[in-house]
Amino acid sequence: MKILSIVGARPQFVKEAAIQCALKQSEKITEVLVHTGQHYDANMSGVFFDVLSMKAPDYNLGISETLHGAMTGRMLIQLEQVMIKEKPDIVLLYGDTNSTTAGALAARKLKLQVAHIEAGLRQKKPKYIPEEANRVVTDHMSDFLFCPSQVAVDNLNKENIYDGVYFTGDVMYDIFLKMQPSFDYSMIDELRLVQDNYILMTLHRDFNVDNKDVLTKILIEISRIAKEIPVVYPLHPRTRKRIQEFGLEDLLSDLIITEPVDYLKLMGLTENCFKAITDSGGYQKETYFAGKRAAVLMPETGWIELIDNDWNILAEPSDLYDFVYSKKSVQYERNIYGRGNASEEILRIIKGVV
Ligand code: UD1
Repeated sequence: MKILSIVGARPQFVKEAAIQCALKQSEKITEVLVHTGQHYDANMSGVFFDVLSMKAPDYNLGISETLHGAMTGRMLIQLEQVMIKEKPDIVLLYGDTNSTTAGALAARKLKLQVAHIEAGLRQKKPKYIPEEANRVVTDHMSDFLFCPSQVAVDNLNKENIYDGVYFTGDVMYDIFLKMQPSFDYSMIDELRLVQDNYILMTLHRDFNVDNKDVLTKILIEISRIAKEIPVVYPLHPRTRKRIQEFGLEDLLSDLIITEPVDYLKLMGLTENCFKAITDSGGYQKETYFAGKRAAVLMPETGWIELIDNDWNILAEPSDLYDFVYSKKSVQYERNIYGRGNASEEILRIIKGVV
């Protein structure tokens, strides 16, 4: 059997790494890997392939545009060509990026079977977030919908999607467990951090960083926190561009700014931080895997179960300071995202049916 996997952005490399680990144990499946090129900086892309010991992409389409329509359109054209040439039995898609949607459309039009890993996430607010459009479109074009949580299964059922829906658990939990012995703690010394005494932040969502007022409000609150406890912020290229454009560099002066860091370093930093602040989809779960709480800078999240059990909070900028200093003790509920064998389950199901 031949599968064709499509990745393009940072979180997808991590999910693909989990599948590649499972593929090593699974005979009779060959994988063709396509990188759309959506993320292209060495520290946003290549370094993930290195530290996660992933095989290099068979195709790199080199497509990155700031306009989503143009990016998705060009991906659609080129992915169709690759699929015609490779004739896969099934196309594997990950998460909710423009690369996911382009892959779903290209495969569906060629009448290929489509599997969506991380299916069923839904987030109504803020309105018009690109990731939500990508999730809905991809789920409604998929034959196999591999859900990371029971909530995701329920979301699909509410939209009358029942066929091909499986609760497998989360592939990001698989890779977290597999890679845990190799987490890299070197940045703690390099940045002169003290264990359990710094905040780790990620921030890149369009609704938080593309509007000057919103970004200013967030950075003002973060600098207030950073005056009292170190805040480490690996700066995403989208946010870097906006900060320069809006002239907000001064608001970074109390923060510890780094380049984007690789997976093993980010997890090493996370395991030793006090709390996290994030607007990333995947990272708000990785903090949970590491036993750390996060304030999620979103009005709503697809990972609602972590909010419902009080582990994470949905935050406005003005909530951040209180979150950092809150003494509230919260019960750690295990296994929300499966048992760490989602990738094996996914391959077992695909092999049984395709
Ligand atoms: C994308 C995904 C988002 C995911 C995120 C992870 C979509 C709609 N969004 O958002 O779901 O959480 O990846 O990081 O697919 N850029 C660089 N170098 C890079 C990558 C991007 O300079 O390596 C620049 C781009 O040129 C662009 C901006 O950063 O100007 C945003 O990149 P883009 O891929 O559009 O989206 P992300 O914000 O990274």
